[in-house]
Amino acid sequence: MKVITRIADLKRLRRELFEPVGLVPTMGSLHEGHLSLVRRAREENPSLVVSIFVNPTQFGPREDFKRYPRDTKADMALLEKEAVDVVFVPKADEMYPPQFNSWVEIGGLAERLEGASRPGHFRGVATVCNKLFNIVQPTRAYFGQKDTQQAAVIKKMVAELDMNLEIVTLPIVREPDGLAMSSRNRYLNPDERRAALVLYRALTLGRRLWDDGEKDAGKIRREMARMIQKEPLARIDYVSIAHAETLDELDIVEPPALVSLAVKIGGTRLIDNILL
Ligand code: PAF
Repeated sequence: MKVITRIADLKRLRRELFEPVGLVPTMGSLHEGHLSLVRRAREENPSLVVSIFVNPTQFGPREDFKRYPRDTKADMALLEKEAVDVVFVPKADEMYPPQFNSWVEIGGLAERLEGASRPGHFRGVATVCNKLFNIVQPTRAYFGQKDTQQAAVIKKMVAELDMNLEIVTLPIVREPDGLAMSSRNRYLNPDERRAALVLYRALTLGRRLWDDGEKDAGKIRREMARMIQKEPLARIDYVSIAHAETLDELDIVEPPALVSLAVKIGGTRLIDNILL
């Protein structure tokens, strides 16, 4: 496994890689969710690049960029086991030199949900993914459905900017008790870890109400919110039932619908979703 930190070195190495090339972009602190992407990418591509870069431009000024978990040594050991060919770990000052001022802005669905709660977030994500795609020139790039909106934003960018790669999305990986795997779960103390289960419970309630015949999106949102509000450590950012492709909020729930939520558990903001 080669570990590359300089953009020029990665571009040079890229010429020697066998096609097709898979890319799994990550911010490190790897868990089974990331590893499911790495394993699929390993199966589908003779060459596999994983990037680890905690991208400063996708964090807001009051968000957790500084404390975001970083554990490069453990990440490298996991990637070695998965037979990754290249790990790309660029430095922030090379990705964003002092005069850097070129941004990729995606409109429409990037402005809702996470985009509305975290202004500038998707501009940072789209810009860094654009840079990674240009540097690595992957045939396929792999994203998890926990960040469903992120995957949709990247797919839109790739389609609308005529980029030459395929975006592959894979299902959420959950802990045995239902909590969606996330690097931010590491922030949770034992009480918060227990309280965090309310996200999946609320999503499951939403699905059950819909399965039982409730089609009024407002009613389902209210029932889900009521359940979350009963958890003292939880504070709702949003509970959404939206069209899965446009992310427009629905009045009547019809598939394909994305039920998603963002909830603060103590000081940790978690997101999760299910597809109806
Ligand atoms: O999902 C993530 O970890 C990040 O948003 C990504 C796609 C690696 C871009 O920084």
